Amino acid sequence: MTRMTGKKTTGSSGGGPRIPGKARSSSAAPGQRNSADDAQAVQTVRAKTVSLKTSRGRTTAQQKWLARQLNDPYVQAARQQGWRSRAAFKLIELDDRFNLIRPGQKVLDLGAAPGGWMQVALKRGAARVVGIDLLPIDPVPGGEALMGDFTDPEMPARLMELLDGRPDLVMSDMAPNTTGHSATDHIRIIGLAEGALDFALEVLAPGGGFIAKVFQGGSEKQMLDSMKRVFTTVRHAKPPASRKDSSELYVVATGFRPERLKEIKEHLSFATDGEKDE
Ligand SMILES: C[S@@+](CC[C@H](N)C(=O)[O-])C[C@H]1O[C@@H](n2cnc3c(N)ncnc32)[C@H](O)[C@@H]1O
Repeated sequence: MTRMTGKKTTGSSGGGPRIPGKARSSSAAPGQRNSADDAQAVQTVRAKTVSLKTSRGRTTAQQKWLARQLNDPYVQAARQQGWRSRAAFKLIELDDRFNLIRPGQKVLDLGAAPGGWMQVALKRGAARVVGIDLLPIDPVPGGEALMGDFTDPEMPARLMELLDGRPDLVMSDMAPNTTGHSATDHIRIIGLAEGALDFALEVLAPGGGFIAKVFQGGSEKQMLDSMKRVFTTVRHAKPPASRKDSSELYVVATGFRPERLKEIKEHLSFATDGEKDE
């Protein structure tokens, strides 16, 4: 099984990273979960090294970004396999490890543009997927996309209306624009992840799951502690597709136990709803 750590590279000897998910997009029916298939599906993408011949008025930072994109095997594999983002591989890897997406589920995707995670959830059998992003999302067949700010007070109700029932899985890949100041970036992303968790705790179906992107930096621990009280399992993971030089990681929780919510009221420092604060 693919290990997810921040320290190890997962590339096979001499090649690029191992990219799971190909067989599901080519041979496995949506929702089919077959580990043999997955094992066969693991492919090694060897990135062709591409260099920029001219700078064409780009800044050094823009050139660096472009060269990294052009030489990133996940970017190349996403293009080949029809995923809208390289981020799709992060969800594929998290799902292969934690078995989060099940056929027939209702899924909320917070920070969904351009729609890679929505594609993966639908491909893996989710019955209904509703995504929201500040940016427009081109229609994803079988999914519903909403453009707006998740932190806008009216958004949770609009998302629930579109989903038409409690979600079995709430996913947040939301990321604010980075400032380059790591402490500030950490606080901003934790704020978004906590908002997502707060919302998930209000709406998740019993037994449901939660995934959120955070940046390593210390204050995610408080969030993990609260989560441990209301979910059967809570882990953090850095999928191989997550860039090694990024402090990004994901908190992954399964087995939501709503009956435990009252017990943790006092730990939910980020609770937004009046009832929890009473
Ligand atoms: C890494 S991208 C998501 C990629 C997506 N998972 C995929 O596979 O295509 C993060 C997204 O979070 C969105 N975002 C950040 N803050 C947000 C907010 N407050 N409300 C909604 N979306 C937000 C950004 O606009 C950005 O598109």
